[in-house]
Amino acid sequence: TQTRHFRIASIPGDGVGAEVVAAGRSVLDALASASSGTLSFTWEEFPWGSDYHARTGKMIADDGPELLRGFDAVYFGAVGWPTVPDHVSLWGLRLRLCQGFDQWANVRPVQFLPGITSPLRAADTTPLDWVVVRENSEGEYGGFGGRNFAGRGPGGEIAVQSAVFTEVGCERIIRFAFDLARTRERRKVSSVTKSNAQQYGMVLWDEVFTRVAADYPDVETESVLVDAMAAKFVLRPEDLSVVVASNLNADILSDLGSALAGSLGLAASANLNPERRYPSMFEPVHGSAPDIAGQGICNPIGAIGSAALMLDHFGLSAEATRVRTAIAATCAAGTLTRDVGGTALTKDVTAAVIDHLAG
Ligand code: NAI
Ligand code: MG
Repeated sequence: TQTRHFRIASIPGDGVGAEVVAAGRSVLDALASASSGTLSFTWEEFPWGSDYHARTGKMIADDGPELLRGFDAVYFGAVGWPTVPDHVSLWGLRLRLCQGFDQWANVRPVQFLPGITSPLRAADTTPLDWVVVRENSEGEYGGFGGRNFAGRGPGGEIAVQSAVFTEVGCERIIRFAFDLARTRERRKVSSVTKSNAQQYGMVLWDEVFTRVAADYPDVETESVLVDAMAAKFVLRPEDLSVVVASNLNADILSDLGSALAGSLGLAASANLNPERRYPSMFEPVHGSAPDIAGQGICNPIGAIGSAALMLDHFGLSAEATRVRTAIAATCAAGTLTRDVGGTALTKDVTAAVIDHLAG
């Protein structure tokens, strides 16, 4: 048998980022130890984040992106801490990597696990499983705009934040969503915009969606406004399979989805460069959770699920399924952190997932 070897760059970042990245890493290392030498990972850790910013004035080393280029993947925790303005930390690290590495597809499964009580109507008896596909390179996060400081006097300042929609950008993420739908039991894509109010960019998105849909006659489609989709997440989630939306709308919807599943701490995500010209990046959806950081109580499932998405990306689908099955078994057995109603610590959940890997 051949040895499959992967080099992973880890960026724990701030707050609970370090705690959950350590958890995910130990799950993958356990998988490698149990593989009798057929699978191995080497990790290199990079200390970038808000502490690094305090020492150097930068969120990431100048040659950081260059250093990461040669890795098979980046495993990321979270960035953001009260000592650095949030827009500085987000643009300085996470968006710099997502946009610099052209990770234009952000895949965010909404997973309902056994043993976790959802606030959602009938969630415990209806199988629910959908995935949010987030356009990850432009839209509302295009970074265009400006602020007028001069000459308007106190209280008169003006700021413009423009969204950028390109036909190429819309088409590639929409095609990605259709291709993903074809791999799923329910072949359906729901496109989300706000094209009644945002009549340029989002109308372009809608037109591209209609055009691309014609190439996928086997896939059901719908177009829903974002406010209506927020309601649908709560009222008719069983009707969802793949939900594709712009950068900001998908970000908001995926937090709603994971909250409905029980906690922000459960949600996994993959920032993919589908052409594989650059490394892809895997991270939990949640942030650095300063309110619970350093206490050993954060939920590691979102980060461990993100490690499973990384295994999928490596072509290790059997191993990815083993990790996801172990997560479900851990929850079903009631080994739950505080955010989902239990008393287990981060390390208890991590150890339980590793135990369940054995089968
Ligand atoms: P957050 O996701 O850090 O926390 C929101 C709520 O969810 C908090 O009550 C927190 O305790 C809880 N939570 C989050 N992760 C959890 C986990 N693993 N287990 C249990 N509970 C968990 O979002 P917030 O508070 O808006 O942002 C905090 C910082 O994180 C900010 O600086 C923000 O900019 C940054 N952030 C970074 C992201 C990233 O790096 N991808 C994403 C979102 C926020
Ligand atoms: Mg978010």
